[in-house]
Amino acid sequence: MSRLHLTKGARETNDPQLSVISANMPLRDKAEGTAAPLIPEKLTLDNLRRAAATCTACDLWKKGTQTVFGEGSPHASLMLIGEQPGDKEDLAGHPFVGPAGRLLDEALVAAGIDRREVYVTNVVKHFSWIPAERGKRRIHKKPRYSEIKACRPWLDAEIAVTRPQVIVCLGATAAQSLLGKEFSVMRDRAKFVPSELAPNVMATVHPSSILRASDDESRRAQKEMFIADLRVAAARVRKLRRAA
Ligand code: URA
Ligand code: SF4
Repeated sequence: MSRLHLTKGARETNDPQLSVISANMPLRDKAEGTAAPLIPEKLTLDNLRRAAATCTACDLWKKGTQTVFGEGSPHASLMLIGEQPGDKEDLAGHPFVGPAGRLLDEALVAAGIDRREVYVTNVVKHFSWIPAERGKRRIHKKPRYSEIKACRPWLDAEIAVTRPQVIVCLGATAAQSLLGKEFSVMRDRAKFVPSELAPNVMATVHPSSILRASDDESRRAQKEMFIADLRVAAARVRKLRRAA
């Protein structure tokens, strides 16, 4: 099997709006209007990052400061997939460095996960935003299906290079675009679900949702649940390591 192929057994849903984009096709031959033609022949994270820096496969590059590619160990056993870079990430050029990233870092520590064994990325690599009605703030705007689809070859290539044992989708945007639109994070959080992406795939909430909690007590409770979910992923990584 060529290195440009992902795992076998990919499936697609019947829903044209939010089909789980098949992952067993050659990365470079995927649908038009996506980043597929830009995927370098030689799949390394450096090559991918360099190629993604000039991606214009959807319109988001026009508003964002720069492509924010995934980061972490090329041999990461655990991959965390968020939605898109936020304001701080857009300016810094690194994923999960803003408020949500800080919360994620704390939760990873609490869950006993070493950041060095993790690869963090997003389903969309440019910041999608609209201007605030007043002032200069840039307000996060959920990426469109077409943007997620355009960006998907970058994520598939990151997965093909790192081949994580465990993937955790953070929030509904990542979970539904990768696991199907019927996926409910609230119903199915921290449950491993069959997926062609990796041997073990689960989802939990997005750390930003915890930051939006209405009061401190609820924020604390939600953070504890988030940590508990990450512990499930951590336990799976350790179990696999013992079995290896
Ligand atoms: N939220 C995300 O989903 N990703 C980031 O990189 C930062 C915030
Ligand atoms: Fe390319 Fe993704 Fe940026 Fe769109 S969001 S321009 S597909 S890197």
